[in-house]
Amino acid sequence: MQQVYISNHPLVQHKLTMLRDKNTDHRAFRDLVYELALLLCYEATQDLKTETVTVETPMGTAKGQKAKETIGLVPILRAGLGLVDGVMELLPNVQVWHIGLYRDEKTLRPVQYYNKLPTAPTVQICLVLDPMLATGGSAVATVDILKNWGVERIKYLGLLAAPEGIEKLTTAHPDVPIHVAAVDERLNEIGFIVPGLGDAGDRQFGTG
Ligand code: PRP
Repeated sequence: MQQVYISNHPLVQHKLTMLRDKNTDHRAFRDLVYELALLLCYEATQDLKTETVTVETPMGTAKGQKAKETIGLVPILRAGLGLVDGVMELLPNVQVWHIGLYRDEKTLRPVQYYNKLPTAPTVQICLVLDPMLATGGSAVATVDILKNWGVERIKYLGLLAAPEGIEKLTTAHPDVPIHVAAVDERLNEIGFIVPGLGDAGDRQFGTG
């Protein structure tokens, strides 16, 4: 089963290249993250379930399709925040549930610091949002949390992945499709994607 989807849309590739450029400033970087989120979301939601409805047009009656699932957006704090607005712009019926994780600098393992999910799931499908799939630790931990919550359909939507992260997420959760703009060469010794785009959180929020 092919579960890794790399967008080859020219607009996605154009915007990704601008995002990688170290001369792209914070404001432009945030705009690009927003636009890429919107484009990747369009591709990642091709199998969204719909139901047949009838509407009155000015000229008569038309049958059409209406999205029927409630979608949970799950940005991983903090870098995942930048992907929320673009995805929300596009999707009807969304809820946003934040998960706070940071990577321990020495072990590179994710440490959870925020989770306010209610006891029972309130959505049918979740999109995990995080620009970078590096070691894959944060993504696996987030999908673990969502499966324990009771969500059955989960997708990962990010900008860039390392082969190591793809391997870790597909091994732990082979049922979770991965949608990204590119898979890069490798991780370096401090867990950054190479050539990558630097630290997506710092570049969005000006903290680098
Ligand atoms: C970065 C990134 C991912 C995570 C990916 O977050 O935004 O959440 O690392 O790494 P992994 O695949 O090895 O787990 P970071 O820990 O830098 O926190 P931040 O988003 O708050 O900057």
